[in-house]
Amino acid sequence: MSKITVKDLDVRGKHVIVRVDFNVPHKGNVITDDNRVRAALPTINYLTENGAKVLLLSHLGKVKTEEDKAKNDMSIVADCLAKLQNAPVTFVNATRGAELEAAVAAQEDGSIVLMQNTRYEKGESKNDPELGKYWASLGDLFVEDAFGSVHRAHASTVGIPSNLPEGCAAVGFLVEKELNVLGGALNDPKRPFVAILGGAKVSDKIGVIENLLKIADKVII
Ligand code: 3PG
Repeated sequence: MSKITVKDLDVRGKHVIVRVDFNVPHKGNVITDDNRVRAALPTINYLTENGAKVLLLSHLGKVKTEEDKAKNDMSIVADCLAKLQNAPVTFVNATRGAELEAAVAAQEDGSIVLMQNTRYEKGESKNDPELGKYWASLGDLFVEDAFGSVHRAHASTVGIPSNLPEGCAAVGFLVEKELNVLGGALNDPKRPFVAILGGAKVSDKIGVIENLLKIADKVII
């Protein structure tokens, strides 16, 4: 794979913004499946062990109203991550402004800050240029490890790396692994090649199914 990966970056002492996919299923404040948080740990651990100052950004749910905000508060993930890491995670209940900037400025090497839900910002899903530029200003480097969100052209996925110098953005271990597995399956499949698809959001998957039908021997939905 020719992508720059997190291992190609010199992260020690640097502010590293990591886009993770912490869009976890939850009932109230209880996370019912923490797999997405666990899947992000290899990249987060690598960065903290190598002396980076880690700023984590993710969306959670669909946020259109104030009620949606209350239902999709990222603080539940901060608690979960701190338990899984057995290390402190500073949660910032803001997506911009003095509190966030102060928390980032105060970070020591190897520390983790988790920002409030990116979708609290209306400009996130529209890839608002000012928002991407602002978030990019909080870091020296960017790591994309939100495999479930790489198909979205949002401020936190596309806006941030577009506002950093060349060579300052890389993919994390989760995205690297998924690209390798999918790349192998699609470019040089072992036959019989059976694709099994699950999950919600059928409309997003129609294009995927159409493409798989051209390559796979069987598609099971
Ligand atoms: C997902 O759960 O599919 C990803 O986190 C993307 O979420 P979205 O469809 O709300 O952008």
